[in-house]
Amino acid sequence: MFFQKDNKTFEINMDNIPQHIAIIMDGNGRWAKKRALPRKAGHKAGAETLEKIIGHCSKLGVKHLTVYAFSTENWKRSQEEVDAIMDLLRQYLNVYFKRFLKDNIRLRVIGDRSRLAQDIQESIMENENRTKDKDGLCVHIALNYGGRDELCRAVKKAAKDVETGNLKAEEITEDVIASYLDTADVPDPELVIRTSGEERISNFLLWQVAYSEFYFTDALWPDFTDKMLEEAIYDYQNRERRFGGR
Ligand code: FPP
Repeated sequence: MFFQKDNKTFEINMDNIPQHIAIIMDGNGRWAKKRALPRKAGHKAGAETLEKIIGHCSKLGVKHLTVYAFSTENWKRSQEEVDAIMDLLRQYLNVYFKRFLKDNIRLRVIGDRSRLAQDIQESIMENENRTKDKDGLCVHIALNYGGRDELCRAVKKAAKDVETGNLKAEEITEDVIASYLDTADVPDPELVIRTSGEERISNFLLWQVAYSEFYFTDALWPDFTDKMLEEAIYDYQNRERRFGGR
């Protein structure tokens, strides 16, 4: 597949598409501010961008896409903004996601969903069940997600298993720890993209990004395009990955 940039043509190697791409969708607020719109308008535009990018990942043959939609820290935002994001999420689960049915797309949620409203929890379960046999792109939405919180929950579960005799302390390996995480059966992301010029991990997938390649772009999330995704993949494909070896 080819894309154009600065009058040059670049080719993406379709045999080396990352299996798992993770995205920190940052910059919705700034996008809205630039247009003198309320922050929630930025999130709405961000949700539309997400729909496009899900479609493009599916077309490119990406197997897993994890997106950071709401962090454990995001509850500190104004009630109005939290409510607006939650309403978008309802819409996503009830409207946007239905459109993906024909595309063989699966939905999963990572994070501590117990703090989400009851109707949202039910809608998540319904979508997860309805799409569980789809074997195309799997979209993982991180909701009330924090990497440290995920590790705490995993350690608690493992400690309970040690208490009940189902796990022995000396049996704990990296694979065992990974099996207690929200991403238990999902390969680690090869590529992590963050938009809006910020270059931080912000408590996203702390365990899983140990060997990921990072790609930062100044584009604000609502302005992120299919072509920018292709540029990120091209950049990834032209890096040398050594995993600590030589
Ligand atoms: C970060 O931008 C974005 C968020 C905290 C929310 C992400 C939500 C969406 C992309 C849309 C909703 C999608 C679903 C599935 C609910 P920011 O608000 O921190 O932007 P800023 O740094 O410019 O203020």
